[in-house]
Amino acid sequence: MIANHPPRPFHRLAFILALACLQTAPAFSQSPSIALSIDAGHVKGPVSPMLYGLMTEEINFSYDGGLYAELVRNRTFQDHANRPEHWFVHEGAGADASIKIDRTTGPSEALPLSLQLTTRTATQKGEAGIENEGFWGIPIRPKTKYTGSFYAKADDAAAGPVTVAIISDLSGKPLASSTVPVAGGWKRYDFTLTSGSEPTSANNRLRISVNKPGTLWFSLVSLFPPTYKNRVNGNRSDLMEKMAEMKPTFLRFPGGNYLEGDHINERFEWKKTIGPLVDRPTHPSPWRYHSSDGLGLLEFLGWCEDLKMEPLLAVYAGYSMKQEYVKPGPDLEPYLADALDEIEYVTGGPETKWGAQRAKDGHPAPFKMQYVEVGNEDWFDKSGSYEGRYAQFYKGIKAKYPNLQIIATMPIKNMKADVVDDHYYRSAKQFYEDVNHYDSIDRNGPRIFVGEWATREGSPTPNFGAALGDAAWMTGMERNSDLVIMASYAPLLVNVNPGGMQWESDLIGYDALTSYGSPSYYAQVMFGSHLGDQILSATLDGSANRFFYSVTRGSKNGTIYLKLVNASPEAQSVNLKLVGVTDVAKTAKMVSLSGKTVAATNTIQNPTAIVPVESSISNAAAQFSHAVPAYTIQVIELKAK
Ligand code: AHR
Repeated sequence: MIANHPPRPFHRLAFILALACLQTAPAFSQSPSIALSIDAGHVKGPVSPMLYGLMTEEINFSYDGGLYAELVRNRTFQDHANRPEHWFVHEGAGADASIKIDRTTGPSEALPLSLQLTTRTATQKGEAGIENEGFWGIPIRPKTKYTGSFYAKADDAAAGPVTVAIISDLSGKPLASSTVPVAGGWKRYDFTLTSGSEPTSANNRLRISVNKPGTLWFSLVSLFPPTYKNRVNGNRSDLMEKMAEMKPTFLRFPGGNYLEGDHINERFEWKKTIGPLVDRPTHPSPWRYHSSDGLGLLEFLGWCEDLKMEPLLAVYAGYSMKQEYVKPGPDLEPYLADALDEIEYVTGGPETKWGAQRAKDGHPAPFKMQYVEVGNEDWFDKSGSYEGRYAQFYKGIKAKYPNLQIIATMPIKNMKADVVDDHYYRSAKQFYEDVNHYDSIDRNGPRIFVGEWATREGSPTPNFGAALGDAAWMTGMERNSDLVIMASYAPLLVNVNPGGMQWESDLIGYDALTSYGSPSYYAQVMFGSHLGDQILSATLDGSANRFFYSVTRGSKNGTIYLKLVNASPEAQSVNLKLVGVTDVAKTAKMVSLSGKTVAATNTIQNPTAIVPVESSISNAAAQFSHAVPAYTIQVIELKAK
């Protein structure tokens, strides 16, 4: 477990403080060797209104132990076939008890097993019970209400009551506790725990204990802190707030490899992820840990709703990662039918079968959705079945939903896909060299969704060199966002505790208590917050060294968003020339993200080493010189008429 960290200010505060320290850019001294000519009278194309979004899947403990605010780990005891991992027996003074997984009894058909606590001796002074260590600790903050529940069965009517408590690992004392009467057959019990004024800590466990002999069985033991927008079964607030700052317009879910599973029977089966938690059987994920499916289809949609994102649903299309595939034709029909049901669950009115199910699950209003992706990374399918599978899904989905745009996960030869999903995991250098990738792509072909991309430098989260690679790549996507209609960095989240990460270089890191944005995250915040809706024509001349740009404009307010990336170790000066404008305000807002080295980074211990700093320039004009410091990403807002 990562050591406890003293409470530190939420990163937004650091950002605001940085904003408060308005600086004026250093006086320009060198003579510019590069020229950026902007023709504000020539709009090259529209900036896609959905250019920046999020891609998500269960990887790196993104949901369980991450965004999904559940604090109990392995709450249904399915992490390991034989052992109740993350659970321990508690034997107080003189107590004698044991725990084991019992596969013969459980609270539902979906959860047919339970944790059996057999207490041979226990007293008021020496209780016996079960303990859960949480996801690298159970985080507790002062004066906070925690909402919990569990299912239990008792061997006799007098077995209860049980004490539920959060116990400090350091003092052994309860930080919050409650008594719950337990008796008879399988039932759900609810409780709340309210902490006192002990300081914030994560070195805690959840304990459920008894003070007399007997046998109890438990399942679906759950404990939630307050969640974002107080959603029941909801998400962690700090992570939701960080994502909100990126101003994402869509959420691509549920994967990634998590959609496909290693095997067909381990795919994301959406129907098993809806409704009461006790009816969700959970499933093994390809990222080597078991998924609780607490964050199921409706929770993905709630996440979209909370952050005002449009769902971009990836439907399982008959390929799983161990080269298992379903032949196009009759064999694939049930999978297509399942995808159509899923689309109906998302978009159908309450008069439809699956829309009615969604209403029953708590959300009568349908969700707006324009894009559906068929599968994930199907170039891995060596059988070559994707052409046929895509065509069958395309036809089936369009027949019922003609307005949906159907994304292919690889180029399609025999028909024109609406959109093709390109993935790029690269070094910063590879991105610099390929920044013009989309400049000359045929505009009559499918539109492009860059559904996964990242500069993979830095671990667990990307360093400043990666942020430079990302920013350079984003300038290329923006300049071509008539074609590149959507893009989403991946992976989004990582639990930085030992064993938490399966994939290096993830945008946002966290432990049980705090979270931080990587430099790449801040680059995304800067780009996503200054987008505009028109791509302006611009050309760069001269001896630029790893210098990248994009120029867009907001047609409503006329603001020109100039993004400059100097990925070289030396300052570079640029002569900026704007034509097609009559007046440029002298003062312009500027946001800069700089690192002293490419290795510089943010960490869970030092979360705000690199954050955007707002300043202003006072020499903006139709022609002006501007110096961009070494290793710097800048956004300048030019007010031009
Ligand atoms: O983002 C991590 C993985 O990379 C995704 O699951 C997969 O689609 C890609 O190969």
